[in-house]
Amino acid sequence: MAANGALDARRELIDKWDRRHRQASDSGRIAEVLEQNLHLLPETGSDALDLACGRGANAILLAQQGMRVRAWDFSPEAIAVVERAAREAGVELIAECRDVIDQPPRPATFDIIVVSFFLERCLVSPIVQALRPGGLLFYQTFARDAVSAMGPSNPEYRLGAGELLELFRSLRPRVYRDEGRLGDPRRGCRDIAMLVAEKPA
Ligand SMILES: C[S@@+](CC[C@H](N)C(=O)[O-])C[C@H]1O[C@@H](n2cnc3c(N)ncnc32)[C@H](O)[C@@H]1O
Repeated sequence: MAANGALDARRELIDKWDRRHRQASDSGRIAEVLEQNLHLLPETGSDALDLACGRGANAILLAQQGMRVRAWDFSPEAIAVVERAAREAGVELIAECRDVIDQPPRPATFDIIVVSFFLERCLVSPIVQALRPGGLLFYQTFARDAVSAMGPSNPEYRLGAGELLELFRSLRPRVYRDEGRLGDPRRGCRDIAMLVAEKPA
């Protein structure tokens, strides 16, 4: 009974995301953490994962940088958009409809993992393990300490102060931004925290 309830809840969540992705007309926005730190990517041919990729803007950018890309999301609508956008952009990637909680990445399978606007704390350990030695994590999502009302209203789905650093403390932080409401709130990188971190070799 409980298992059925959980399945129904998951189905509803997938339907909700399917509706959102169906209504959108583009492949979404490239995450700042990737766009601002593209120069940190390793050489071409590295294995990259866009986890909970949505409509795939990050995955397509990674493929354009010469990475071997997998893009995973549990929404079939999102995956259809990623595949179409990749064809239109003339890049190759493998987009898969996959529930990343039930099927997290396997250990030591990726050189780069990108996660944007997706926060499931149970995935921290699988993400760290999935990185190969020297691999890089690019992560950004909404912070509780924000200047606007953008993003989820449930604080559980937002990062607490310094939380991203704490969650990924086994990795070496290379870039971290979490500006909160400091200084001029009209400038800078607001409402989110971002981390680029390296798995020790
Ligand atoms: C806020 S969107 C972010 C999408 C993309 N990363 C971006 O930055 O535009 C969250 C995404 O997570 C996906 N998602 C949520 N739970 C998931 C799960 N358990 N497994 C795979 N994808 C999931 C949703 O379908 C949605 O596309």
